Order: sequence, then C-alpha cells, then structure tokens
Amino acid sequence: MRIAVFEVESWEMAAFADLEAEGHRLSYHPEPLEAANAADFADAEAVCTFIYSAVDACVLDALPHLCLVATRSTGYDHIDLETCRERGVTVCNVPSYGENTVAEHVFGLLLTISHNLTEAVDRTRRGDFSPQGLQGFDLRGRTLGVIGTGAIGRHVLEIARGFGMERVAYDKYPDPAAAERLGFRYRDFDSLLGQADVISLHVPETPETRGMIGEAAFARMREGVVLINTARGGLVDVHALLRALAEGKVRAAGLDVLPEEPVIREESEVLRSLFQQEYDYRTLLADHVLLRMRNVFITPHSAFNTREALQRILDVSAANLRGFARGQPRNVVAGPSAGG
Ligand code: NAI
Repeated sequence: MRIAVFEVESWEMAAFADLEAEGHRLSYHPEPLEAANAADFADAEAVCTFIYSAVDACVLDALPHLCLVATRSTGYDHIDLETCRERGVTVCNVPSYGENTVAEHVFGLLLTISHNLTEAVDRTRRGDFSPQGLQGFDLRGRTLGVIGTGAIGRHVLEIARGFGMERVAYDKYPDPAAAERLGFRYRDFDSLLGQADVISLHVPETPETRGMIGEAAFARMREGVVLINTARGGLVDVHALLRALAEGKVRAAGLDVLPEEPVIREESEVLRSLFQQEYDYRTLLADHVLLRMRNVFITPHSAFNTREALQRILDVSAANLRGFARGQPRNVVAGPSAGG
C-alpha cells in the first residue's frame, strides 16, 4: 500500500518501520494534508494524519486512489466522514490513548493553582525568595466535583483519592460499579456545583454540553471555587467565566482548552479572522483577556502531549494501517467496513 504520513516528526517515523519491512511504501511529510498540497500525493492509497490536516471533499477529489484515512487522534472532526463514506474510503481513529495522561495534566493545573507555582518559580528566577503572597491551599479534605465519569474523569477521581480529597461526580449515564470501586458518590448536576471546591470537566462537547458551565451554573457554585477544563473549550461560556472571576466567585481557573482555540493559536490568525465572518470576536476577545489574568492558567491543548501517550497513538495507528492492509480493518469510524 502507498501510505503518506502527515504532520509527522522524525522521531515518530520509527513507529512505521515494520510496515516498510512488510513491503508498504511510506512517505513522510511534516506538513498537514490540505487542499493546497493534496495533488502532490495523488497516488496515495492511505493517508495517516493528525488533527491539523483537513480531509475535506477537495482533498478527497485530489486523491483518486485513496482507500483509507488513519487519523492519529481520537477526534475526527477534521475529516469529512460523509464524503469518505460516499467514496468508499474507510476512516480509522485511535479510540483511547491517554486517559492517565490527561488526568495527570488536571493535577498539574490544580497544583499550579493551589501552590501558586507559576508566581513562585517566576520569583526565584528573578532572585526573589520572599514568600509574601504565595500562600496556597491544601487539596486534602477539599471536595472535587468531576463532571463526566468516562475514561479520563475516572482517572481523575482515582488520583484525587491519593490526595485525600472528598469526591463527587455527575454523569448523564452514571457508572455505579466505578463509584463503588473508586469510592466516589454521584450527585445531580446542581448539587455537584453547590458542593465542590474544585470542578473538573470531562464530558465531550456536544450540542447538549456546549455552554453547560454558564451564568446559571456559576451562580450555583461555591464562593472561591476552582475550575479546571481539559475537555473542550465550548463547555464553558467564557463571558460568564470572566464575570465569575471578576466577582471572585471563581478563585482561579486552569484551562487546557478554549473556545475559538484553533484561531487563537496564532495572533496572525486572529488578525486574519477580523476580515472573515466565521469567528465570534467577543469570544476571541474574552480568550485574550483570560490569557492575561494572573489567576487563570492556560496550557495550549497539551494535556495529551507526553512521550508515552504519543507512542500509544503511533502504535495504534500503525496497527490500524496494517489491519486495513490485511483486510481486517480496526477502529473504523466510517466507511464501507462500518456498514456505510
Ligand atoms: P469518555 O467518552 O470516556 O467519557 C465521557 C463521559 O461524558 C461519559 O461518561 C459520558 O456518559 C459523559 N457524558 C456525555 N454526554 C454527557 C452529558 N450531556 N452530560 C453529562 N455527562 C455526559 O471520554 P474521555 O476519554 O473521558 O474524554 C473526555 C473528553 O476529554 C473528550 O471528549 C475530549 O473532548 C477531551 N480530551 C481532551 C484532551 C486534551 O488533550 N485536552 C485529550 C483527550 C480527550
């Protein structure tokens, strides 16, 4: 099979060596696959992308031999599944790879807040060893509220046990066996908001969950609550968050994700977007205000980004390519093999 691998760094190529040894012809490209360059890969039978490639109808038009898109991600909103189905192109993903990784990042953000780590380290770098204003708070004895008790939320609850935190959770589809095993209690959404000292979000972004942490939710929270969001930016209404931060209702926030995040990655993108209509400028402005607040700690959607998690992604992706080549597709999210 002729396989073009995109958005790939040199250390990642080793993961595909076995496929080459099995006779597949691989080419490696650091850039994303997109309409502007797709014609250069017209002979590809399979493409292996990350999330910054845009596998849309234009790209598919330029790849007449394409049979497989193997994305090195769980999400596949960068792939036009409908057009893939129509053209008989199979799409595979990596259903899970980093539940512990993202859960560890949650505590990275939380400890950054509870121990004022950013300010503390900045100070000593300047040669200032004064402790004034650095007093933090213990996690032990505080109540953690986890919204979404899937793979990541459960890992967060498990780690929180080690910190001696009280733990409550909300999920549309509760898992009583997990609650029993990990020793947390389910609450309804409003009760969780009223009880938690720290709230951590772990639901997918869907029409139902979009904006679920808005004015009404903040109103129900405890004074001085800490909010951690490593799920998706759209879950939180950033305007309501800014107000809650300004009023002191939210003591601090740790955010790995923001709405309009793909746009905010590059200032130049923001400038370009001013001439387009597709972005919500008020939200972009709110994102920028959040980025500069002393009690808001933002990471660039990097919760998944550890060597081990990336290796798991590569291993599953290589197995997806091999499985398809052998007529045994795995982790299929669209295409003839998924029943159309
Ligand atoms: P999962 O699918 O295992 O768990 C999601 C949970 O949310 C499920 O228990 C489900 O019942 C619950 N849920 C769904 N809709 C709900 C609703 N309307 N109300 C209440 N609960 C609802 O997902 P997983 O692996 O735990 O990931 C959670 C999210 O984390 C993902 O959707 C993704 O957006 C985000 N993520 C972020 C990463 C990062 O690097 N920041 C990396 C990987 C995932």
